[in-house]
Amino acid sequence: MDPVRSNNGPRYKHMADEPAPYDTITVDKLTPIIGGEIGGVDLSKPLGNRTFDEIHRALAENLVIFFRDQHLTEDQHLAFGRLFGELHLHPAAPHAPGKPELMIIHADKDSPRANGEGWHTDVSCDEEPPMGSILYIRKCPPRGGDTLFASMYAAYEALSDRMKTYLDGLTAIHDGEHYRGQYANYGIADKPSYPRAEHPVVRTHPVTGKKALYVNAGFTRRILGVPRDESEGILRYLYHHMANPLFQCRFRWQENSIAFWDNRCVQHHAMWDYWPHTRSGNRVTVAGDRPF
Ligand code: SIN
Repeated sequence: MDPVRSNNGPRYKHMADEPAPYDTITVDKLTPIIGGEIGGVDLSKPLGNRTFDEIHRALAENLVIFFRDQHLTEDQHLAFGRLFGELHLHPAAPHAPGKPELMIIHADKDSPRANGEGWHTDVSCDEEPPMGSILYIRKCPPRGGDTLFASMYAAYEALSDRMKTYLDGLTAIHDGEHYRGQYANYGIADKPSYPRAEHPVVRTHPVTGKKALYVNAGFTRRILGVPRDESEGILRYLYHHMANPLFQCRFRWQENSIAFWDNRCVQHHAMWDYWPHTRSGNRVTVAGDRPF
């Protein structure tokens, strides 16, 4: 059964003002709810202030934005990320030699796992989880390897008023212990411990002021202040609810594409349906603030 179906029209009625026109870029929306493909910009060139502001606005309006046919060096990729804030260091994942902020995203026929399988927001186990992630895929499989993105604004809005009231003020533990052993195939030794943090179950986006559901199956272990079985039941419901396709867009990669998502209001899920082929690139992650 479709969990957000009702007999009074859609339970989630997406309301968005028509965006003001853009002067320096084009924005082609993937869905009314989430995702926009940006055109008219070469990210290897210095961005004027106006273009930077418009990219920033496009991210706020579309939650995840995509760029095609970009040809960036590793340093240009890092520099693009730094325009949006300090860069985040991943607590466990491998990085390019001498570039700790340039995470390696790679899967091939010998990989024991691929990054990002399963719904999650990046590194939500950190006290100050990343604001955004900028993934640049250089090598694509012939088919597959799409990434799905879901709006946590829409997922929150589609909850019943009673559920919103129930979740109001609750916090949950996010734990990075599952990183243990995860990158052993890269020769990365485990740390004595991995980050663990308590965050609100519903957070307020610092730029848009909108509320977003902020629990994810990758990191959230339990809701505090309620019995464990109740926490498990509520989390199970929320994970099922947020995975409704109504809240999603799906990006089909081509070589030299970039996806830039806002971890404060988006979850994503990478498909590993292309084995034994190779998919490879780098992620630059922009640091964020403590959720409130
Ligand atoms: C990730 O979670 O950063 C990986 C996403 C992807 O490879 O599409």
